[in-house]
Amino acid sequence: MDKLLVRGQNKLSGTVMISGAKNAAVAVIPAAIMAEDICVIDNLPYIEDVKCLNITLNKMGVICSYKDKHTLKIDSSNLKNVSVTFDEVRRMRASYYLLGALLARFKRAEVAMPGGCNFGTRPIDLHLKGFRALGAKVEIDGEIVRVYADKLVGANIYMDTVSVGATINIMLAATMAEGTTEIENAAKEPHIVDVANFLNMMGAKIKGAGTDVIRITGVENLHGAEYTIIPDQIEAGTYMIAAAITHGKVIVKNIIPKHMDSLSAKLIEIGVNINEGDDYIEVDSTNSKLKSTSIKTMAYPGFPTDLQPQIAALLSICEGTSMITENIWDKRYQYTDELKRFGAKINVEGRIAIIEGISELSGADVEATDLRAGAAMILAALAARGETTISAVKYIDRGYEEVEHKFSQLGADIKRVSV
Ligand code: EPZ
Repeated sequence: MDKLLVRGQNKLSGTVMISGAKNAAVAVIPAAIMAEDICVIDNLPYIEDVKCLNITLNKMGVICSYKDKHTLKIDSSNLKNVSVTFDEVRRMRASYYLLGALLARFKRAEVAMPGGCNFGTRPIDLHLKGFRALGAKVEIDGEIVRVYADKLVGANIYMDTVSVGATINIMLAATMAEGTTEIENAAKEPHIVDVANFLNMMGAKIKGAGTDVIRITGVENLHGAEYTIIPDQIEAGTYMIAAAITHGKVIVKNIIPKHMDSLSAKLIEIGVNINEGDDYIEVDSTNSKLKSTSIKTMAYPGFPTDLQPQIAALLSICEGTSMITENIWDKRYQYTDELKRFGAKINVEGRIAIIEGISELSGADVEATDLRAGAAMILAALAARGETTISAVKYIDRGYEEVEHKFSQLGADIKRVSV
């Protein structure tokens, strides 16, 4: 088990290069197996979730290998196996995309239910509702989800809840269904557009991704493609907040600034200077007097729930009383107990967190309770007086490539120790 040791109060400065988007990668890689062909995906983040998918695909009979640490070559020409029930699959929430991909190509699949973070129930009822709407039968046998169909037929599907995973999974299955599918009330996250763009490069006919109505005209087959995934909006946001919380000046590079609009607007409200370029944002908090604000997490283009723990760390040192409303997940405040160890003053009532800003956090021994909570612990540690130890770093490694190296390059006093 690795730990991170951080000595706080260094002002971050310099440039950080953002990696490819985890939540695009974990959908694009399964989509690649829909073609009886070879795909090459680059700009992949070198993170545990992608390494886990590489192992999973090879165990399925796909010939998948790293051309370099950011590029996977995926040869699904000889894929026959539609049963995916080994351990790697249980470790990762996004394994459910294998259901949609295998159902599209083989009209049947069985996948072990996904694992993933522990903030509240992680249902997949909307995924399964979409598969049924396309003509598939669904069976749940303990941890195994089985889906099968004589054929898939396009349908009009209205999403009860805006769901990233369900939107992507239904898009995968509908890509090779007969006729046209319309997904209404679809999620609009950048990674959904990325998956649609990749599928279209493979010969799919998908229109409207990024809006709340996605139209898919089914095709018989897909062919291989080479694709570069988009930069990670959440990793970028994490480093933007790191610059703010340490009163630093950082250029967050290799990003799509538009994807960061909701965070940039909030950082400006808090009193941080934001300068946008074509593929970077400069965050300058050197002379900022950080002020409280209120945050409501919403589906894109609203404030992303995956930056909620990180912004809470920043708000704990913003003067005044801040409020966060978490509208996506019903239990995404476990990390606040850990944040309190730094001296933060946070009160949680259901989906609302009230934060009284304090002048200074103090170093503490804390644990990463999930991926983004772990990121929030690093941010609090960077701002805190004294030394912090962060355990359960494996969660952070799921979504942040070389996290201690990237922060060290910005001047943070952070190192990884293996315990
Ligand atoms: C994706 O999860 C992300 N994960 C999550 O990021 C992110 O928090 C979430 O989208 C929201 O943006 C990946 O992309 C791998 P949802 P997903 O379906 O698809 C309810 C991270 O840190 N819902 O958009 O599972 C659900 O309970 C991770 O990178 C149903 O009710 O999220 C939630 O309240 C953490 N039934 C809401 O919808 C379903 O069938 C949004 O969930 C599916 C979802």
